[in-house]
Amino acid sequence: MKLWGGRFEGQPSEVFERFSRSLYFDRRLIDADIRGSQAFARALEKVGILSAEERAQIVEALEKIKAEAQQPEFFEGSTDEDVHTLLIRKLKERTGAVADKIHTGRSRNEQVSLDMRLWLRDECRHAQTKLCALMEALLDLAEAYSNAVIPGYTHLRQAQAVLWPHYLLAYFEMFHRDCARWDDARGRANVLPLGSGALAGSGFPFDREAMARDLGFESISRNSMDVSADRDFVLDFLYAAATTMLHLSRLAEDWIIYTSEEFGWMELGDAVTSGSSLMPQKKNPDSLELIRGKCGRVIGCLTALMVTMKGLPLTYNRDMQEDKEPLFEAADQLIGSLEMARVVALSVKLNPERTRAAAAESWVVATDLAEALARSGVPFHQAHQIVGKLVLESLKRGKKPEDWTAAELDKFAPEFRGGTARLLDPAEGMKSREILGGTGPQAVAKALTDARKRVQQMRV
Ligand code: ARG
Repeated sequence: MKLWGGRFEGQPSEVFERFSRSLYFDRRLIDADIRGSQAFARALEKVGILSAEERAQIVEALEKIKAEAQQPEFFEGSTDEDVHTLLIRKLKERTGAVADKIHTGRSRNEQVSLDMRLWLRDECRHAQTKLCALMEALLDLAEAYSNAVIPGYTHLRQAQAVLWPHYLLAYFEMFHRDCARWDDARGRANVLPLGSGALAGSGFPFDREAMARDLGFESISRNSMDVSADRDFVLDFLYAAATTMLHLSRLAEDWIIYTSEEFGWMELGDAVTSGSSLMPQKKNPDSLELIRGKCGRVIGCLTALMVTMKGLPLTYNRDMQEDKEPLFEAADQLIGSLEMARVVALSVKLNPERTRAAAAESWVVATDLAEALARSGVPFHQAHQIVGKLVLESLKRGKKPEDWTAAELDKFAPEFRGGTARLLDPAEGMKSREILGGTGPQAVAKALTDARKRVQQMRV
């Protein structure tokens, strides 16, 4: 069946039909198409196109079709152009001529926008639920090693010591912002497009407020041409997905490094690693590498749609059908990656002795020493020079911070007098960082408790 054809004498080529068909991917929108069509049938009754009886017949038939559509056979052998065409064909098979009225004053251009908005509203919530579960797993992992000290990095060079929970809470904050981005993306999708017609507004006086209430939309679109031309709401979703994936990818990269033989800070569970077909000793972090790899794909989805849209004249163009595959692809990869990251996080075993030893071997305490000197009145630039010299001297003599005694330090520079030596222990210096957002032990304990509450509030 086709929803058009009267003005054609010839048949479409089989190649064109196959080329333009979207059913094999837009079939995911079937529930949304049914829900939208049921609401539209109610609207058609109100403007006098359908009788109460016809409306009831249509709504009921669509309900039965919804149940049937759960079975994969439902779509078997269908050669319809798209999901909208398929649904009308199925409706016609059930209700006969009355189905011919369902498309009165409606265009597929607004229908496809409606379906995607309905689908996206749910999918944003789905992503948020998975995100919350991951954030809770990260908090569990933080609490499991709440006193562990690790070196923090800049330029992948050891910089300053931080608490393990402080490090994990950095990712918590990224995911917390992501969650807000999902609310935002959902809000952008939550606008009723129905009533816009093909581009000029419907020729029937639908009560759009009532349609919005019926479908649970927060607001109503204000320009019919904008509706037909707009895919910003899909881009917003893809941007949120790409940013969340980017955060996951950085976490994956960190952990791939931290679990390497050279670092040996942590171990991933057997359940999330794989071996080599050739090298018997290997335990590879494939789950994390795949998360990192899939991030590239999702960024590709965002890029693909932006490039598709950038040169399109107003309003609808068939190019826009190319929005759905990147959208579904990004959503699937995102949900899968969030689930995977959670399972990996639950499997992690930290080796706090190794991380502490790593911090003790380098000069992550240098800033603590310089700041202690500054606190005792030495101008910071001078303090920086003194500690720099101490580091240089240590490197020359193969000395680690802990190899220095208090007396030796005092001898090296009189400014060190007065108990600076205790700061040679990486766990000590961080005690001066109790500032809000810092890695001081009390500040981190509070941040962790707050994070628990915040993630509970996020639960949707
Ligand atoms: N399948 C189309 C899409 O996804 C919607 C149908 C509108 N088609 C059209 N020729 N106006 O964008």
